[in-house]
Amino acid sequence: MNEWFDPDIGWLRTKPGIKWAIAADNEVAAWVADMDFRPPPVVIDSMREAVEGGDFGYPDLRRGSRLAPAFVERWRRHGADLDPSRIREFDDVLNAIQAVLHVTLDRGSTVAVHTPTYPPFLHTIERHGYRIAPIPFRRTVDRWEFDIEEAASTVAQSDALILVNPHNPTGRVLRPDELGPLVDAASASGTLIVSDEVHADLIYEGHRHHPVATLTDSAVTVTSATKSFNLAGIRCAVAHVGDGKVWDGLASLPEHLFGAVSNLGVAATLAAWSPEADAWLDGLMTVLAANRARLTSALPRRMAQPEATYLGWVNLPELGDDPAAVIRARTGLVLTSGPDFGHAGRGYARVNFATGDAILDQVVDRLLSAIG
Ligand SMILES: Cc1ncc(COP(=O)(O)O)c(C=O)c1O
Repeated sequence: MNEWFDPDIGWLRTKPGIKWAIAADNEVAAWVADMDFRPPPVVIDSMREAVEGGDFGYPDLRRGSRLAPAFVERWRRHGADLDPSRIREFDDVLNAIQAVLHVTLDRGSTVAVHTPTYPPFLHTIERHGYRIAPIPFRRTVDRWEFDIEEAASTVAQSDALILVNPHNPTGRVLRPDELGPLVDAASASGTLIVSDEVHADLIYEGHRHHPVATLTDSAVTVTSATKSFNLAGIRCAVAHVGDGKVWDGLASLPEHLFGAVSNLGVAATLAAWSPEADAWLDGLMTVLAANRARLTSALPRRMAQPEATYLGWVNLPELGDDPAAVIRARTGLVLTSGPDFGHAGRGYARVNFATGDAILDQVVDRLLSAIG
């Protein structure tokens, strides 16, 4: 199994994808949320088979989304019962969320979101002319929490809530006692919930993913196989659109406005969500748990242990507002800038620890040398 998760840095440096392409020869890339591992063999085989089959013609869409049964089955694992007739495919998770907000809100609408916030959501909200209603995560000794009552009141006063669960960048997995009051507040006030659950399969032992769809039928749930199986380039996502008005709003727009997923993206997603990929995912989580332990013990008190994801949210205030810039200049380690996640990200950097031992050694050494 280890050969799946032992990437060669020489190979990584030759890859055309953005993660390593921006790193100079003496730099190490630990930023954007791509992993350094090849996807599961079953995914590569299914794409190879699709290519060798030679059919690059139009897909047969007469029965609706080809991904619906697999999405329903996958979310059943997490305890949710999705309606297959309410599933749509999108090019990617962000495309789906933007489309849903676009058909639901007007300029000036208010969107509640946890802070710090995954940067594309900040851009979406700003470019659409919506206003942000922040739900601040606050760091306690060893975890990130938010004031549930205050959050419920924020949700009640907002037109939409974008939930990111599990959360990027803190790695929090929301518990039912946190989700419940937000869902209740949204139901009572007609606030649309859009739940980004793209990290749902990357949960560490001791935690469990609770889909928003286990608590309400009217939320929009968006996900893809791209984060858990390292497939960001395949451009393929799915959304369960519980809310009838949103479903009709999407259906009323021209068919080709949002693009469409490709046969290869569908083949890759179906393979990733098949039982044949389970052993790879189990192996991945073992490697990620060890990497997480390594990083948190190297940086005591600077990061709370993420409950999901391969992202560490590291507090380095002595390096100024944007520690990632200082660290790159001093050591050649490329991280994601905290301030990209909004004001709450000042003094933070995000570390991607989905890599092999030898590269993680370099990540930790460079981080420690930057902070002296
Ligand atoms: C919370 C979250 N949502 C969405 C995405 C992007 O997904 P996609 O590439 O399918 O738009 C990411 C990528 O890291 C993410 O962390």
